[in-house]
Amino acid sequence: MSLPFPTLTASEAAALVRHGDTVAFGGFTPAGSPKDIPTAIAVRATAEHTAGRPFQIGVITGASTGASLDGALAKADAISFRTPYQSDPDLRRAINANRVRFFDLHLSQLSHHVRIGSLGPINWTILEAADITSDGRVVLTSGVGAAPTFARCGQRILIEINRRHPASLCGIHDIYEPIDPPNRCEIPLYTVSDRIGQPWLQLDPAKIAGIVYTDREDEVGAFAEPDAVTTKIGENVANFLAAELAAGRIPADFLPLQSGVGDIANAVLGALGAHPDIPPFAMYSEVLQDATLALLRQGKLKFASGCSFTLSPPALKALYAELPALRNRLVLRPQEISNNPEIVRRLGIISVNTAIEADLQGNINSTHLFGKSMMNGIGGSGDFTRNAYLSIFTCPSLQKGGKISTLVPQVTHADHSEHSVQVIVTEHGVADLRRLDPRQRATVIIEKCAHPDFRADLHHYLALCNDGHEPFNFEHAFAFHRRFQQTGDMRGAFTA
Ligand code: COA
Repeated sequence: MSLPFPTLTASEAAALVRHGDTVAFGGFTPAGSPKDIPTAIAVRATAEHTAGRPFQIGVITGASTGASLDGALAKADAISFRTPYQSDPDLRRAINANRVRFFDLHLSQLSHHVRIGSLGPINWTILEAADITSDGRVVLTSGVGAAPTFARCGQRILIEINRRHPASLCGIHDIYEPIDPPNRCEIPLYTVSDRIGQPWLQLDPAKIAGIVYTDREDEVGAFAEPDAVTTKIGENVANFLAAELAAGRIPADFLPLQSGVGDIANAVLGALGAHPDIPPFAMYSEVLQDATLALLRQGKLKFASGCSFTLSPPALKALYAELPALRNRLVLRPQEISNNPEIVRRLGIISVNTAIEADLQGNINSTHLFGKSMMNGIGGSGDFTRNAYLSIFTCPSLQKGGKISTLVPQVTHADHSEHSVQVIVTEHGVADLRRLDPRQRATVIIEKCAHPDFRADLHHYLALCNDGHEPFNFEHAFAFHRRFQQTGDMRGAFTA
């Protein structure tokens, strides 16, 4: 049946967007992010700039996107402001050169800000879809993000129908938007597998300006095979959780797991899957990565709830082939629900996220290198960490070939305070910070997590913190970072 919406080329769709518009893109990570229209907007921006005219748009997304969205727009100097999480190298460079105004948000809070208008009006919402009906019912693809709110609050809508994603995805998504305060009641989700909304996104058909057909795969990079360090970190997390289970501090049938992004998260999931004492468990997480699929197949993962299938293209293809067998054990939700603090507390989620650096007090820096260069953003790490049943941070003890210790006297930027961080894990061991006072914490972090090359310097710093409740020395707190800036190596900050 033909649809009552104009079919457009990507360039025709891009031509509708005006300089100064704010554009909200569906999807979450490269999964489910529109591809052809943003690339065409970037081409248009370049042409406008060449003609001597200004052309920039505000860009709101669910989270990071692919090279065809953030990368293309950043390279074309087409972004005025950008929020929230991103991970594209070109965009990162533009943000750190202050060519793009970037402000970060907890991912669970994005939809709220859009609804109340604190990000300004949304002129365009651009969504990727697997299917659409003539009355505006959309089946989303591999990522949901904030699509429901973007669609409701956007003034006009453009849709990319991506043939890579089968229409049989219908039923995988659970689309639900909470009512605004002061009339909000509880979100009625009591177990990981509950479905509380609709399998499709209902759009106002009158807002749909056109449809662009495409057939492009999600731009998710391949995950690295676990190496000696990530394998050890994974094993340390798995052994710690098995010990908590044996001690009765985790219920016998385990608790839902949230696992962060990247190679360490993949290694942690692999280790949990392989651990004989960890029973089959469920995930209530943000991204579902390649390791999730392996665990589902093994039966070690009973159910996975997420906001996106952030799978490498071969893994996504395999998932779609196996969809009939796996679909009853999968659900994709809006980020407002997948990362919702109320639900994280109710379900008793164990959170495992990655740190850039951790300090002797237990504060975590997830976002900024040397206090000033944005890496990606806080993502969902704050949503989960602050509300977790048990909050864990992982990181390798060293970066840059051993010249940087990730365990430092004082973090240069604090995303998660010592009050939210319960456990830190590196390849050397596990620092369980619960029930310890600040000085005990510092000692445990040095002894269990720091690389041996840095332990003497960290102890030296601790000895300089000889008064007060927290281990802090005003003069030497950034001695490691200062030494790196002066010599290119943090080693020997006190003992050289
Ligand atoms: N000092 C200096 N550089 C550092 C560093 C430190 N303490 N820690 C990491 N780096 C550098 C690495 O050397 C690497 O540099 P390169 O790109 O030149 O090789 C780069 O930063 C990335 O480090 P890497 O170890 O590869 O990071 P990752 O892919 O494991 O990601 C985070 C780690 C923290 C950046 C990532 O997990 C993140 O963005 N977290 C915040 C959001 C989040 O937690 N989301 C999950 C919630 S569901």
